[in-house]
Amino acid sequence: MSDKPWGGRFDAPTNAFVEAFNASTHVDARMYAEDIAGSRAHAQMLAQQAILSQEDLTAILQGLDKVEADIESGNFEFTIALEDVHMNIEKALTDHIGDAGKRLHTARSRNDQVATDTRLYLRKRTNELLSRIRTLQTVLTTLAEEHADTIMPGFTHLQTAQPVTLGHHLLAYVEMFERDAARFIDGRNRMNQCPLGSAALAGTTFDIDRAFTANALGFEAPTANSLDSVSDRDFIMELLAACSICSIHLSRFSEELILWMSAQFSFVDLPDAFCTGSSIMPQKKNPDMPELVRGKAGRIIGALMSILTTMKSLPLAYNKDMQEDKEAIFDAFDNLEGCLRVFGDMLPGMSVNKAVMHKAASSGFSTATDLADALVRAGVPFRDAHEIVGKSVAYCIREVIELHQMPSTACADIDVRLNVDMVQKLSVEACVGARDHIGGTAPKQVRLQCIAWKARLNEGLESEHA
Ligand code: ARG
Repeated sequence: MSDKPWGGRFDAPTNAFVEAFNASTHVDARMYAEDIAGSRAHAQMLAQQAILSQEDLTAILQGLDKVEADIESGNFEFTIALEDVHMNIEKALTDHIGDAGKRLHTARSRNDQVATDTRLYLRKRTNELLSRIRTLQTVLTTLAEEHADTIMPGFTHLQTAQPVTLGHHLLAYVEMFERDAARFIDGRNRMNQCPLGSAALAGTTFDIDRAFTANALGFEAPTANSLDSVSDRDFIMELLAACSICSIHLSRFSEELILWMSAQFSFVDLPDAFCTGSSIMPQKKNPDMPELVRGKAGRIIGALMSILTTMKSLPLAYNKDMQEDKEAIFDAFDNLEGCLRVFGDMLPGMSVNKAVMHKAASSGFSTATDLADALVRAGVPFRDAHEIVGKSVAYCIREVIELHQMPSTACADIDVRLNVDMVQKLSVEACVGARDHIGGTAPKQVRLQCIAWKARLNEGLESEHA
């Protein structure tokens, strides 16, 4: 004999190990509030449609309140014998209120239940992630404003390329996180349709009102195809893709902070509260937080690979394989939220070594492009200008001087068109100041961008919640 809610056609109990292996309570119990909200909406709809009596509805609603209160006060024991959050809650309800509890599952299946709960839960968590992204963008914008004219080397191939402003560099991440936020909003809005009523796969023989439950749970509409509703997990794939891209952005920023904090760069110092020491080397202060955030990208991308691989080639409709979906995305959300929180809390305490950054920006012939541009403005074709500046750099390397220190004789020797005034005017301040157009690194542009971001972030926070 089987003691399961589905045990009617079984003669033997479940193997003890299988019972544990099959259970998902340790993962899905965290969706209890969504499961109860779904049950309330379903029961109300059944009563409205006269599928359930008013007395049963009252008992169910009271019973669900009790179950919820018990869970929240720690007076509820989820058991693997009841497999998942859905059957644990339904059984507890029935224990409290008797037969009315057994009527709740009319016109419903765990398949549409889990599809609904997961969407509701991820909608909530996506909104939380969005707030974290907004906080981080705000922190970055404040820092960018403070460092609108802090000059640092810009790199390509990690070789000094041209001077940029630190504010400009920080705003690059604000842009990346904006696109991340847009991906989360997009994924959230696309999944905001209610699967309830799809039942096991084909719909139900009862005269249900799907718009009622969709509306009660804050969904935009009921899903349009019952098979699709209980089969697909593309919303999980999309959100995990958004998590992965966001974690990649964070990993790049992490990598830069780790480099910048090294003795060789010494551009920045991270607050003690976000670093750790070494158990053997007394001098060490390690950038553990950016390192860990960089590492988390690996596991978050792993979660994306896991759901993609699980879903590949699965026939319609529900398959138990899909129970594996939640652990991966919950872990990814928990960890990404942690990463965003750490960065939002850590960055305001970062100190910036402006003098070292300025010195680094001034070395490595970072102004060479600007000298070529000056020659072009004097009528020299760009390819000739490039050649002339290349020779000038070679001369400076031999003489161990900077471009702006070239004597007029050397200029004339290299090319008659190279004027000593041009080289004397070279400075990193002039370089960044001259890039004064939309998207350029000039302090003026950075300040304009900061103003625009602050306005956008303030109004964005109010309008974007589903
Ligand atoms: N725990 C299951 C899951 O997460 C719920 C749905 C189970 N449905 C079923 N017919 N076995 O996927």
